[in-house]
Amino acid sequence: MSDASDGRGQLRAHLQFYGELGVTGFSRDPRWRRRPPVAPGQVETGAAPLPMAASADDDVLRVPDVAEDSLRSQAEQADALASLQAHIGPSCQRCKLCALGRQQVVYGVGNPAADLMIIGEAPGADEDVQGIPFVGRAGQLLTKIIEAIDLRRDDVYIANVIKCRPPGNRNPEPDEVATCEPFLLQQIDIVQPRVVVALGKFAAQTLLQTDTPITRLRGQAYPFRDAALVPTFHPAYLLRSPDKKRETWEDMKLVRALLRGEAR
Ligand code: URA
Repeated sequence: MSDASDGRGQLRAHLQFYGELGVTGFSRDPRWRRRPPVAPGQVETGAAPLPMAASADDDVLRVPDVAEDSLRSQAEQADALASLQAHIGPSCQRCKLCALGRQQVVYGVGNPAADLMIIGEAPGADEDVQGIPFVGRAGQLLTKIIEAIDLRRDDVYIANVIKCRPPGNRNPEPDEVATCEPFLLQQIDIVQPRVVVALGKFAAQTLLQTDTPITRLRGQAYPFRDAALVPTFHPAYLLRSPDKKRETWEDMKLVRALLRGEAR
């Protein structure tokens, strides 16, 4: 029987994971669930305010006045996300990835009104099979990272910069990003998260429109659309370099503080 196959073993594995992150205690304080809004421009950053990302091209579904009217109910946000997903279609052929072995479009998953949105690079092999972002090994680690800041995976909304798996998990190419990113930006405008986490160099550099290395980007928040964007390491990188978990934990503590209104 493996160590983690009974309750005690699972608890031990859990505590070991948090120990590696540098977590030294757990709070039962329910105050973290109260999340006063972060006013736009409140985020402290060394960087100049970023320009709004390019507006979506003509192909992007016009979700009714999402940005202007601020969708209020979770049901409306869920409907808007579903409309956008239907517009993209289950077998999108807008870029060359449709002919390069991808099985399906991997849209996004989670709470349509999430305060926290997490954005990765592109679906991998497991995600391509299941049609859900971050379900492979990196996804399991991501779930633990989310739980380490007292949230459940279902509380957040998870998506990728592009929605189809690049062959051999190569980096997405500029034409693929140009085609697909507008849909992600629409998802962000529908969900209206207060905090966005960009996982890894590719997502962080693409969203922030910079070529600054992730090692220099991480550790702080940046204004991004109506949210605060926190870059951190990709969980797939953490699987290869577990010593980076501590820095990731620092970034996630910043995320938690932003969500609680304790940081700007
Ligand atoms: N890596 C990503 O960037 N996204 C996924 O969905 C899975 C792995």
